[in-house]
Amino acid sequence: MKRLPAALLGTALLTAALPAGAATVEEIAGSHVFERCKACHSAESGKQGFGPNLHGVVGRPAASLPTFMYSEALKAANIVWTEDNLRAWIAGNDKVVPGTRMRHVAVTDRAEQDYLIAYLKTFGDSMGPEQARVLLERAVGKLRSDGPDKAFPAFNDPKGGFIARDLYVFVFDMNGRYMASGGNPRLTGSDAANLHDAEGKAIVREMINIANAAGKGEVDYMWLNRVDNRVEKKRSMIQRVGDHIVGVGYYFH
Ligand code: HEC
Repeated sequence: MKRLPAALLGTALLTAALPAGAATVEEIAGSHVFERCKACHSAESGKQGFGPNLHGVVGRPAASLPTFMYSEALKAANIVWTEDNLRAWIAGNDKVVPGTRMRHVAVTDRAEQDYLIAYLKTFGDSMGPEQARVLLERAVGKLRSDGPDKAFPAFNDPKGGFIARDLYVFVFDMNGRYMASGGNPRLTGSDAANLHDAEGKAIVREMINIANAAGKGEVDYMWLNRVDNRVEKKRSMIQRVGDHIVGVGYYFH
């Protein structure tokens, strides 16, 4: 357990009612740091504010809530709210994304940053179809603008901005060969044409058929979620870009 600054510790211990979700001393301390954000943000599911809802923000792709009008700068930033990016953002958001609409906040103390992140994590996961769609659109944009040589390594790179908790980008060529997979980069180059899911469905063949016929679509299958290490129902949205099939899937927990 890290040491709490005396001022925070005092408030944490004097607080009679625990803030929603917070259970450890760090999370409680984080709820106090969050007071600086509350004028504009809520972390409770579904609550709107002047700033975007922060429920499940740790690991979420930036600017991926369909109900919030983000600045063009944040939408174009291609970042995922990893802990490192969140730290940099709360220390100096206008340096991370010049042109953002969020007013400058300066949570520069490393311990306070840790508490805040621990607190935000208690609000859980929010990876779903909207976040998958945002990642797919960004991946398609990246492939079109930068080409395969730059795009595929970025999809495989944990810091490339295309891996958001259990969401990641995969790419096949039209013969079913893996060109990238953020979920497991070692698959790159391997032949997956005859890959079947846990229930025997020929999923890559199905993706190739959809790509050839309609250019884009969705495929449902049973797949290992590497984040919780369970086989779960997964829905992948795929889109053909030239001779490649780009996909992002989300899990039903
Ligand atoms: C004065 C209002 C205000 C305050 C205070 C504020 N924010 Fe924000 N925040 C915003 C706005 C507005 C945006 C949208 C920025 C954009 O679209 O460029 C935003 C965006 C964000 C995002 C990006 C979310 C997403 O969906 O991509 C995060 C993360 C965030 N704020 C965290 C914080 C934290 C943590 C604090 C407190 C330390 C804080 N903010 C304080 C207004 C605020």
